[in-house]
Amino acid sequence: MMLVTWRGALLRPAALRSAWAAAAAAARRAPPQQHQRRAAAARAAAQPPPPPDRPLVVLGIESSCDDTAAAVVASDGRVLGEAIAGQAAIHAAFGGVHPSAAAAAHAAAIESVVAEALARAGAAAGDLSAVAVTVGPGLSLCLDVGVRKARALSREAGLPLVAVHHMEAHALVARLAAAAAAADAAGGGGAGAAGAAAPGGVAFPFLCLLVSGGHNLLVLARGVGDYLQLGSTLDDALGEAYDKVARMLGLKLEPHGGAVLEALARGGDPGRYALPVPMQRHPNCDFSFAGLKTGVRLCIERELPPEGHPDREQIAADIAASFQSVAVTHLCQRVRRGIGWARDALAAQDSAGSDSSSSGGGSDAGGSSSGNSSNSSNSSSSSNGRGGDCSGSGRDGSGALRQLVVAGGVASNAVVRQRLGELAAEAGLELVVPPPRWCTDNGVMVAWAGIERMRLGLFEPALPPLQLEPGQEQEWIDLRPRWPLTTEKAAGSTPRVRSSKAAASLARSLTEETREALGLAPAGEGPAAEAPIAAGAAAPPAAAAAVGAERPAV
Ligand code: KG4
Ligand code: ZN
Repeated sequence: MMLVTWRGALLRPAALRSAWAAAAAAARRAPPQQHQRRAAAARAAAQPPPPPDRPLVVLGIESSCDDTAAAVVASDGRVLGEAIAGQAAIHAAFGGVHPSAAAAAHAAAIESVVAEALARAGAAAGDLSAVAVTVGPGLSLCLDVGVRKARALSREAGLPLVAVHHMEAHALVARLAAAAAAADAAGGGGAGAAGAAAPGGVAFPFLCLLVSGGHNLLVLARGVGDYLQLGSTLDDALGEAYDKVARMLGLKLEPHGGAVLEALARGGDPGRYALPVPMQRHPNCDFSFAGLKTGVRLCIERELPPEGHPDREQIAADIAASFQSVAVTHLCQRVRRGIGWARDALAAQDSAGSDSSSSGGGSDAGGSSSGNSSNSSNSSSSSNGRGGDCSGSGRDGSGALRQLVVAGGVASNAVVRQRLGELAAEAGLELVVPPPRWCTDNGVMVAWAGIERMRLGLFEPALPPLQLEPGQEQEWIDLRPRWPLTTEKAAGSTPRVRSSKAAASLARSLTEETREALGLAPAGEGPAAEAPIAAGAAAPPAAAAAVGAERPAV
């Protein structure tokens, strides 16, 4: 297969090159904390984006938790090669992900997983345009393995490096469907054949529910690297709750606690046990699963007969179905409110007059090529001369909310998909859920997020040769185990008081960094954004009106 490549290093202006070299040299000498700050500073300047008429071919590497995954994806939406090594069997014995066992398993698998993805793509590292890697959030020991591999490839093959936020990758892979549809239309096959449930593609702005093992977020996605948080979990994420309930029921947690619990619940009666729907007295978009989990524990203690009892399996199935039903009701209630908040936020933004020039040349963001005929303002993916490319980050120009994206491991759940689909239809939105294998962690989402970020110039040039100080065994690298997607919150979010120490230790959010790199005004996180609301009061709309400046044309 012939792959056309593009190298950032060739286009980079000399000034940027020497600034980068100086920052990199300083970073090599500096202790970890200083290094991290300098690397972040170096990253804050966007690079010149690649020429839009050349397809990008990006290798994505994922190792943030318990899956070692890699994929080679082209910017026209073709998934050229994929490989994944799961670790469920390793962690089953621990009853959860064991960080050092996970890191050892990543280290054992990383070379073969990357080699397999490349081999399936018929590509060598030198054929690639860039390497993208998850740098956070996740387990440091695990992130470290993927990031070191990506940095080694960057050095060996002279590849630009794209730092990817794990949750953004979950969200953006929904947009791959647009490019896949275009590739299908052109007869190229590729990702569309994988069954992405989004024939019309996904354009900004969209509402996005991210439900995984570590995160439960409801955000208004305004652009690549630009998110307004409507709600988040006050305790557990839903995937974590699924895993814990599966464990309480004594289930085997392979391939995932959630998948096993879902299978058990299929044979159960969701109405048999009345469990409390969380947060009924909190009219906002936040989530909580700790109380529900306790309710399930008490129900198990009260109702579940011992092993060997003839009714045990049916009762376990009924408990599983009852838990799932209430958990999904909670999701639906929060998302229903979130749709209103998102619409209010967009209306406020439109009335602030900030939307008129927002889409600019970037209006190719996953624009529909089919299936969304009510939306004629949604630009076609070929209208910008980029062929089937699904790239750019601008809004579609209308400011209207048309789609609900649900992503992350729990989005592979059929009940979640069905009930959120019904809710979306009622609200006049299209539900977009990636195919199940792109919901749980995978390399495709990282490669795709890399492509989306590269299109905006959000990458680092190829790394210079490694120079270690005497006695230094390996380079310090910049990992983001606690990297927030955004710190910009809707006005009705539950206020969280952060100690100044905790706040100082938090990495800057992806949204802050991206806006700065693109030269946009910082998104508002003023006092109004954090103001509490009275219990029972109608929640005020989000603080998005504060977002003034818009991204430049790409
Ligand atoms: O996104 P993901 O693969 O990893 C993280 O980023 O955390 O999500 C994994 C989570 C696990 O908690 C797993 O139990 C849950 O997603 N999950 C499911 C299903 N498949 C995976 N939860 C409910 N139903 C499923 N079918
Ligand atoms: Zn994930």
